[in-house]
Amino acid sequence: MFSENTIAIVKSTVPVLEIHGETITEVFYKNMFEKNPGLKDMFNMTNQKNGTQPRALAGAVLKYGAHIDKLEALGPAVETIAQKHASLQVTPEMYAIVGENLLGAIKEVLGDAATDEIIGAWGEAYGALAAIFVSREENIYQERENAIGGFRGTKAFRIAKIVEESSVIKSFYLERADGEQLPAFLSGQYIAVQIEIPGTTHKHTRNYSLSNFGDNKYLRISVKKETGKQDGIVSNYLHSHFKVGDELQLPMPSGEFTPTLNTDKPAVLLAAGIGITPLLSMYKDLLLNSKRNIVLIQCVLNGEVQAFEQEIKATQNERVQYVTVFSHPTDADTAKNKHQHEGYISKEILQKYSTPDSEFYFCGPTPFMAKTKQLLAEMNVADANIHFEFFGPQEDLEMV
Ligand SMILES: Cc1cc2nc3c(=O)[nH]c(=O)nc-3n(C[C@H](O)[C@H](O)[C@H](O)COP(=O)(O)OP(=O)(O)OC[C@H]3O[C@@H](n4cnc5c(N)ncnc54)[C@H](O)[C@@H]3O)c2cc1C
Ligand code: HEM
Repeated sequence: MFSENTIAIVKSTVPVLEIHGETITEVFYKNMFEKNPGLKDMFNMTNQKNGTQPRALAGAVLKYGAHIDKLEALGPAVETIAQKHASLQVTPEMYAIVGENLLGAIKEVLGDAATDEIIGAWGEAYGALAAIFVSREENIYQERENAIGGFRGTKAFRIAKIVEESSVIKSFYLERADGEQLPAFLSGQYIAVQIEIPGTTHKHTRNYSLSNFGDNKYLRISVKKETGKQDGIVSNYLHSHFKVGDELQLPMPSGEFTPTLNTDKPAVLLAAGIGITPLLSMYKDLLLNSKRNIVLIQCVLNGEVQAFEQEIKATQNERVQYVTVFSHPTDADTAKNKHQHEGYISKEILQKYSTPDSEFYFCGPTPFMAKTKQLLAEMNVADANIHFEFFGPQEDLEMV
C-alpha cells in the first residue's frame, strides 16, 4: 500500500510528533475552527476546552502512524470512531478539511524540521486512513438507510412525554414527527442531539444513549442534569427549556456497545450513576431476546438519585438478579433496606455475582470505569468478556 520510504519516514517521525502532539492538535483545531466555524456545531466544545478530544484525535493518528505497516491492529478502534463519526454526520468532504489543517499544523509547529518529504509521507498516510473511515462510514450510512424506519441524515422527532426519573434525571420520550416507523436500533446504542441555545455562538452537540428497548412507539433518552463549577450546557438546557411538543432533529442511532444475544454466558451489567442508560436498554433486550442469566448491578449515591428502580423491578424475572450498591445511603435508605451493599464497586462484589465465564458490560463516570477495568484485570477476566461504553472520548479513560 505504501512505499518503504513512506513507511520509514512515518514511523521514524512518530516520536517527534508525539513530543509536540498537544501543540500540534491545539494549532490544528484553532486553525480549522477559524477557517470553518460551522464545524464547531458538531464538536463537543467542552471536550475541546478540557483537551480530551484533541488528545483523542492526536492519539489515534499517532497510533496509526506507529502501526502503518500492520493496519489490522487498528480494527476495533476504527469501528468505535466510525460509529461516533456516523452519529455526528461526518462527510468525506470534511476529511479533506481535517487533512489540510492537520498537515498545516505539523508544518507550523515543526517549522523547517517538517521537510517536504515528511509532509508528503504523512499526507499519503493520512489519505489512506481517511479512506478507511470514509468507506466504513458510508457503509454505516447505507446500512442505516436500509434498516427498518431508516433514513440518511436526520429526521424530526417530537417530545411526546417527559418523566422525572430521579432528582437529577429526566427521560424524554421521542416520537417521529412525520408519523413514520421508529428507526430500528441495537440496545446500548446512542444518538446525537444538536441544539441551539440563544446567546451562544454555535450549536451544541451531545451524545445520549437510548435508555429503552422493545418500545415501538418512542425512542427514549434519559439525561442527567450536570452541575458543578459551571453547569453543563446541554443537559441543563434540556432539563429547563424542553417541553412536550418541542422537536429535535435526530440521526439514526449509532454505537457498538451492544450485548451478544445467542450465548449462554451470564451477563453482568454494571452501571454507575447515569451510566445506567445503555445498560437498561441492554437489560431489556437480553430479557426479551436471549436466554442469558442477567445480573444488573446499579451503583448510585443513594436512593434519592437512583433512577429506574421500579421499571427494573417490574420487568425482573427468575433469570435476573438486581443488585444495588449505594455509596452514601441516607438514613431512610438504610431503614428501608433499599440497597444490598454500601460503598463503591469492589472485587468482592464482582466475584460474588459472577462466574468464571461471565461477560461484563459496564458504563459510568471516569473513576468507576477506571476502577472496574482494574478490578476485572485483577480477576484475570479475558478481554473478550469485557465491554464498556464511556461517556466521553475513549482516550480520556486511558489517561486515568
Ligand atoms: C456515547 C455517549 C453516550 C452518552 N449517554 C448519556 C446519557 O444517556 N445520559 C446522559 O445524561 N449523558 C450521556 N452522555 C454524556 C452527554 O453526551 C454529555 O456529555 C452530558 O450531558 C454533559 O453535557 P453538558 O453539555 O450538559 O455539559 P458540558 O457543558 O459539556 O460540561 C461537561 C461537564 O464539565 C463540567 N464543566 C463545564 N465547564 C466547566 C468548567 N469551566 N470548569 C469546571 N467544570 C466544568 C460541567 O459541570 C459538566 O459536569 C453520553 C456521552 C456519550 C459519549
Ligand atoms: C483520519 C481522520 C480522523 C481521525 C483519526 C479521527 C479520530 C477521532 C477519535 C479518536 C475520536 C474520539 C472517539 C471516541 O473515543 O469517542 C473522534 C471523535 C470525533 N471526530 Fe474524528 N477523526 C478523524 C476525522 C474526523 C473528521 C473529518 C471530522 C469532521 C470534521 C471528525 C469529527 C469528529 C467529532 C465531531 C468527534 C466527536 C468529538 C467530541 O465528542 O467532541 N473527525 N475522532
